[in-house]
Amino acid sequence: MQIVVKDLNYTYSARTPFERHALKGVNLTIEEGDFLGIIGHTGSGKSTFIMHLNGLYKLQSGEIDVFDIKLVPDKKKKSDLRRLRGTVGMVFQYPEYQLFEDTVAKDVAFGPKNMGLDKDEVDRRVKRAIELVGLDYDEIKDRAPFELSGGQKRRVAIAGIIAMQPKVLILDEPTAGLDPYGKEQILSLITHLKKECSPTVIVISHDVDEITRFANRIVVFNDGKIMFDLPMNELFRHADELHSVGLEIPRAVRIAKMLKDRGIELEGDIVSLDDLLRAIVAAYNKKHIDKTVEENINFNAFDFGVPGACGREEGER
Ligand SMILES: Nc1ncnc2c1ncn2[C@@H]1O[C@H](COP(=O)(O)OP(=O)(O)OP(=O)(O)O)[C@@H](O)[C@H]1O
Ligand SMILES: [Mg+2]
Repeated sequence: MQIVVKDLNYTYSARTPFERHALKGVNLTIEEGDFLGIIGHTGSGKSTFIMHLNGLYKLQSGEIDVFDIKLVPDKKKKSDLRRLRGTVGMVFQYPEYQLFEDTVAKDVAFGPKNMGLDKDEVDRRVKRAIELVGLDYDEIKDRAPFELSGGQKRRVAIAGIIAMQPKVLILDEPTAGLDPYGKEQILSLITHLKKECSPTVIVISHDVDEITRFANRIVVFNDGKIMFDLPMNELFRHADELHSVGLEIPRAVRIAKMLKDRGIELEGDIVSLDDLLRAIVAAYNKKHIDKTVEENINFNAFDFGVPGACGREEGER
């Protein structure tokens, strides 16, 4: 199964003084199971593109096929939007602004109810979705969404999408406006949802460091076109081109380059901070392996009883 987009063009406010050609001949194939990151400077067309994948924007020209559901430009045969929206779940930027029911459970039930499922199935899905996003169902189901914290509201909004059990989950800037702890929680949640719920995930992010945490492939938008579509480890070899369109390269890639400029060459593909840490440990092992005593031969920072965030040793309470 694939999502295939061919020659997609989109113009806002056509034939007015505000006309804006936002997508210019976009071609992209997304495989089932992909963890796709989409980056690009502001106004490059990222949101306009993903809005097409669940039929929120009518196709003006081009072709879209989402897991064998075909979208066709206006006036031709009607697209199967109902089936499409059950297949592709879309979490907009600041999704919590769209919570509107008076209880959490009702809000999460909105999507599955609209799918025409019976009450028992809706209830079952609501409970599972709330638990999947890491909230306590009994504690939260009857609370009003506006009473919740920002991070909780965002989880509830994501649960509303998950309850429809989409095969493809798309999130537009899912960590926008959250503090570092809230961001971390949402990033872990996305990885968890990919495993447990929606095998194909597409995430738009401004933060390349964030995207290196999970994506296996990155698409870069620039001025309504796809500039790069590469596996993550290859993309950041194009640092100069990325710079020229206002994009940073990940911190780990920059640090590895600084080390290289100082004569310390690390091995392997380094994209995330985790890759960097492993490469540094491997380089350390290699350098010291012949010089140190036997027990240091198997030195591995990951096996150490590294104190936790509270300074406790592993196992200590
Ligand atoms: N509703 C609209 N009416 C007119 N022009 C729009 C509208 N929405 C977006 N645009 C224009 O289309 C272009 C692409 O916008 P889009 O929102 O897809 O970009 P983006 O890459 O998602 O940006 P950001 O990172 O800021 O969210 C921009 O030039 C934007 O100004
Ligand atoms: Mg956007």
